[in-house]
Amino acid sequence: MGKILDGKALAKKIRKAVKIETENLIEKHGVTPHLAVILIGDDPASETYVSSKERASKRAGIKSTIIRKNTSISEAELINIINDLNQDKNVHGILLQLPIPKHIDSEKVINMIDPKKDVDGFSNYHVARLNKGFDALVPCTPLGIMEILSEYQIDPKGKHAVVMGRSQIVGKPMASLLLKANATVTVTHSKTQKIKSITNQADILVVAVGKAKMIDESYIKSGAILIDVGISRVDGKLYGDIDFDSVKEKASYITPVPGGVGPMTIAMLLKNTLKCYKNIVK
Ligand code: GUN
Repeated sequence: MGKILDGKALAKKIRKAVKIETENLIEKHGVTPHLAVILIGDDPASETYVSSKERASKRAGIKSTIIRKNTSISEAELINIINDLNQDKNVHGILLQLPIPKHIDSEKVINMIDPKKDVDGFSNYHVARLNKGFDALVPCTPLGIMEILSEYQIDPKGKHAVVMGRSQIVGKPMASLLLKANATVTVTHSKTQKIKSITNQADILVVAVGKAKMIDESYIKSGAILIDVGISRVDGKLYGDIDFDSVKEKASYITPVPGGVGPMTIAMLLKNTLKCYKNIVK
């Protein structure tokens, strides 16, 4: 049986450290860290994510404000909101919950967020810095995965890391981080041919495909380290992209769903919010 990579426990530890650091920062500067979240529409998954982010922020002593708008919001209105938040001295982090309605140019609005306040690290400024290997604000999910690997003393150096999925939020930044950590990185996607012949070579396999239980033991090499980014709700139950029962004996390490990558994403958001704060409040 592979060892469980307990993201939930690690996230709890990090949230506790963030809480202590937040208290110290408030005492030192007299300013409370403040995260502003823009939520457009009523997508149930986004609602769940945003309320988890709000709860975790409050528990860590970070102020959070949710700005709710309905899907009829115009691009100009959204840009106005972002500009106001950029200029608001009391706001240190800005998060635009994705997805946003199709009539808004998401690339344009994401890049309107002041890079100093871009807690998601989705702006071109931080994407470029990450790809160049410089210090950057890094998207929370891949950052959380790197923290899990580090906590369990898994060094990617020299390992073949295969990332399934090429999204801006997970796959691409994950590949950059693993490359920066000296892994040999392969990215697969929906057009990849003979995918199992690639995933079977993975020492570290990060799966972010959004298909419940897609990855069974035929995809993995014996002793592989498995990271499951998927969360799908089927008949009220949560499943990852990896079929846990099928792979658990063959893997050396595995993140469970729930309790693996998900809680780490939120913990990293808190860390990124403090990172922004420390860069602004001096
Ligand atoms: N939608 C799904 N995941 C994320 C995320 O990490 N950040 C934002 N802003 N939206 C998301």
